[in-house]
Amino acid sequence: MKVTVVGAGAVGASCAEYIAIKNFAAEVVLVDIKEGFAEGKAMDLMQTASLNGFDTKITGVTNDYSKTADSDVAVITSGIPRKPGMTREELISTNAGIVKQVAENLIKHSPNVIVIVVSNPMDTMTYLTHKATGLPKNRIIGMGGALDSARFKYRLAEALDCPASDVDGLVIGGHSDTGMIPLTRLATRNSVPVSSFLNSEQLEYVKEETKVGGATLTKLLGTSAWYAPGAAVSAMVQAIAGDSKKMFPSSCMLSGEYGQKDICLGVPAIIGRNGIEKIVEIALDDAEKQKFTESADAVRKTNDLL
Ligand code: 2OP
Repeated sequence: MKVTVVGAGAVGASCAEYIAIKNFAAEVVLVDIKEGFAEGKAMDLMQTASLNGFDTKITGVTNDYSKTADSDVAVITSGIPRKPGMTREELISTNAGIVKQVAENLIKHSPNVIVIVVSNPMDTMTYLTHKATGLPKNRIIGMGGALDSARFKYRLAEALDCPASDVDGLVIGGHSDTGMIPLTRLATRNSVPVSSFLNSEQLEYVKEETKVGGATLTKLLGTSAWYAPGAAVSAMVQAIAGDSKKMFPSSCMLSGEYGQKDICLGVPAIIGRNGIEKIVEIALDDAEKQKFTESADAVRKTNDLL
């Protein structure tokens, strides 16, 4: 499998590193616009090959999309990250133009590619990628929910004082500080509903901390996070590579599912060799449905800025 990662910044480089270490891809091409930057990151990563035991070939290129030709999967991380106090939506004026150009460059050389969008505001950038490329809707996936769900599980494990491997949880809706919906009602600890262990106040805390998980890290780091975003998107790439049919909350183009049309929003999706194999409609309670509609309205407002 050949994977292109556009943007050799912290998220893109972490994604490339995790893909290499998982050793499921033959080749990763790292692309950046900064002269020599992707080449340097790729060389540094390749020098870990004998230490981390992977065979994946990582190469770096400066803005030369011919080297990305015939990629199976392409991850778009390019654009600016947010600074402390910023919302993801505030990045749209800078990132929209970058993502559109990157998407067009990618499909010129890889017409059969599956694109995973990470750049923020991610739901809107995913929507933009659909409009800019005209790729079949199963071949454009937004990565947000996989990251938000990982943060949800982190907060649940913290509250339960148990290993993260003991918990399961799903975050749907917009990848935004206000629009994401951690589904505490469905979260479990080893198949036991977490409401058996946590009271409503604790659950509210977990929900709210999950929603601002990105902003919390941006405040601490001075820039957006990169390890968990890189790990989340590499897990989705691996599910495509292995045709795993794993279910990830993903920003998908909706055509009536969950009562929404012509919008990209985080919903449970089966991810496999064809990208989005199936959107899974789960039963939401009235409060969750209301939140989903509000989340969709907020993303639509951001889409209108395109
Ligand atoms: C985050 O939440 C970058 O949106 C990403 O960290």
